[in-house]
Amino acid sequence: MSLQRTLSIIKPDGVAQGNVGDILKRFEEQEFQIKALKMLHLSPQQASGFYAVHRERSFFQDLVRYMSSGAVVVVVLEAPDAVVRLRELMGATDPRQAAEGTLRKLYATSIEKNVVHGSDSDENARREIQYFFSDSELLD
Ligand code: CMP
Repeated sequence: MSLQRTLSIIKPDGVAQGNVGDILKRFEEQEFQIKALKMLHLSPQQASGFYAVHRERSFFQDLVRYMSSGAVVVVVLEAPDAVVRLRELMGATDPRQAAEGTLRKLYATSIEKNVVHGSDSDENARREIQYFFSDSELLD
């Protein structure tokens, strides 16, 4: 598989718990290259726009409130098969289902406060990267 990019967000619980350094280290240990990175405090409007695909879901309002409750770290990662490999490293959405050694098993406390986001497809990765980064902010 050729190189692919994906978007990760270290969510407000990950930042508040002090997991940023360890999560970035694990990305690098797994040979993801960091191609862009920024710390943001999302507005409710930014969080709603990012998660627009979930707007009909029962948990949407809570998700927007949570994602705009504190700082996040937004990261563009590059690796062969990056979308699937990042999702493996994160573990299942619900930390109770997440495999041993995954980021969510290690750090997540609930299905909502699940520490980290990763794009679920190549198409969504492109959209999500563009949502947060201009071309000039992305390394070649
Ligand atoms: P993420 O992978 O960022 O994509 C959507 C997010 O919605 C998900 O992680 C969780 O934080 C949240 N989410 C998904 N399912 C539920 C649920 N059943 N209840 C509450 N939050 C959820």
